[in-house]
Amino acid sequence: MPQERSSNIRWHEGLVSRSDRQNLLAQRGVTLWMTGLSGAGKSTIACLLERDLIQRGRLCYRLDGDNIRHGLNQNLGFSPEDRTENIRRIGEVARLFTDAGVIVIASFISPYQRDRQAVRQSMPQGDFVEIYIKATLAAAESRDPKGLYKKARAGQITGFTGIDDPYEIPDKAEIVLDTEQLTPEAAAQTVIQYLQARGYFSPAAVDGETSGSDR
Ligand code: ADX
Repeated sequence: MPQERSSNIRWHEGLVSRSDRQNLLAQRGVTLWMTGLSGAGKSTIACLLERDLIQRGRLCYRLDGDNIRHGLNQNLGFSPEDRTENIRRIGEVARLFTDAGVIVIASFISPYQRDRQAVRQSMPQGDFVEIYIKATLAAAESRDPKGLYKKARAGQITGFTGIDDPYEIPDKAEIVLDTEQLTPEAAAQTVIQYLQARGYFSPAAVDGETSGSDR
């Protein structure tokens, strides 16, 4: 897809900054990007994390693969091009929410390294926290919560991640959650501790002023 189709457009700066919004919310915006195989536990951990953050008085919003494909991305399938476009659009949404001062919990297989990297690079330093939800294919397949691995093995679904479509393991994830070692609750707590330790719960930006949503 071309980057920009329109001409004669100009960025219009507002009268309030990201800091204004973050001070209002008493928190810092960040995107917590969970990546991993289907059945690795992304959605389960995302839901627990979301509940925990809300209980702590933090405004967060969950973006989830299956849900987003019901609306914004309902015209996309699972070809490599469509997956790339899926992640590009989600990345844009996550960037806007983060700039709004919200803690975004994004859980998508996001199997391709370059697509995750593009989202990371679209955001100011420190705004993108990549979380690898680690599970072996054998573990994810044995859980098979939606029966999709069974269908993929039977040839009823083609291009299924881990079976006949690749999953590229992150090589620089900020957090790795091994779901064969950690309970979902412990995994969610690990993320909370990471955020706390690095000052993400303070409205002051971790890496200084990051106002404005232009790159
Ligand atoms: S991504 O690859 O584009 O990041 P996304 O996270 O949005 O995927 O959606 C994954 C969900 O779609 C899976 O949890 C599963 O329920 C469903 N799904 C349907 N077909 C496929 C497929 N071919 N590969 C992976 N997931 C699929």
